[in-house]
Amino acid sequence: MSKDKTILRALAGETLPTPPIWMMRQAGRYLPEYKATRAQAGDFLSLCYNPELAAEVTFQPIRRYGFDAAILFADILLIPQALGADLWFVTGEGPRLSTITSQADFDKLKPVEAIHDTLSPIYETVKILSNGLPAETTLIGFAGAPWTVATYMIAGQGTPDQGPAHALKAENLPVFDAIIDRVTEATVLYLSEQIKAGAEVVKLFDSWAGSLQGGDFENYSLKPMQRITAELKALHPGIPVIAFPRGAGERYVGAHAAIGADCIAIDDGVTAEWAAENVQISGSVQGNLKSSHMVTGGDNLVSETKRIVKALSNGPHIFNLGHGITPDADPENVQLMIDTVRGG
Ligand code: CP3
Repeated sequence: MSKDKTILRALAGETLPTPPIWMMRQAGRYLPEYKATRAQAGDFLSLCYNPELAAEVTFQPIRRYGFDAAILFADILLIPQALGADLWFVTGEGPRLSTITSQADFDKLKPVEAIHDTLSPIYETVKILSNGLPAETTLIGFAGAPWTVATYMIAGQGTPDQGPAHALKAENLPVFDAIIDRVTEATVLYLSEQIKAGAEVVKLFDSWAGSLQGGDFENYSLKPMQRITAELKALHPGIPVIAFPRGAGERYVGAHAAIGADCIAIDDGVTAEWAAENVQISGSVQGNLKSSHMVTGGDNLVSETKRIVKALSNGPHIFNLGHGITPDADPENVQLMIDTVRGG
């Protein structure tokens, strides 16, 4: 692993004159070349499980924009599927899964070791990427954090308030805890294989962390991510971990230490100035431009990008959006963001 890569330097705590940059969902429907490859694959899941085509869509934003990192093309819901849940995507609506709301449902899940039967094509994708990326580009592997993955496994779909998961936690804590533990253990195995295949950094997406209140935030967002991070670092000393407890607000403070993560990704619910004073003092941060600027562009995009770069310029920073880019974004606005970050 080359320590000259800018993303790895920022993750190691170095303050760089220009922050390295990549973008959540950088391979996605805002790009015509993504839509063409997705059509070739047939559907989204076929694309995820086709190593050649999944690698192709991962390369596309690197070729077009020269981002400093590539993120493996896959999905956080492949873990539930590998554990035996049914998974499908409804066009225009999103993911659907079989639900787990009882001990009997939980008992149908497969043991963690079985995940590789389903997920081995993903490890192949990582190998293709590891061999094919430019020397300066960092390869990021990822998984969903256990709470976020559990919210989909319990509800069977995305929910505005994660109500079904909160309800199961209140009504049947043993089954809820068993789901969290099974996903946590599977995630360690999954990410460990990604690292063996060539991932140089791993990121944990806790997209729904913000709905956990009080002690639940610590018990179900921070602690499972801490356990995954500790076990991965024991297996792969020095592997950098980015954690994204989205919607954490003031609870981003102390998150580096609570998780043991090298970098905390921040959404757009906090300002970069606040994050510099309260989060970046504990380690590197990634974020936090509003994704909507990729749709609206113009002077606001330029001034907000400059403001974030400046606010976080006194410590280690990886420039990114606060959440994934949306399908209605204009690819030219992405170029404008990159030029603004790199051009000063
Ligand atoms: O960032 C990247 O480019 C890497 C690939 C990636 C995808 N999903 C591809 C994808 C990553 C890192 C994810 C993570 C993911 N998936 C999260 C966590 C991050 C976040 O956005 O909060 C979540 C919650 C999911 C679950 C998921 N996958 C949903 C809710 C949806 C449907 C919503 C939508 O945008 O359509 C997906 C589908 C999905 N995952 C797409 C992509 C490119 C769109 C699928 C398509 O091509 O139709």
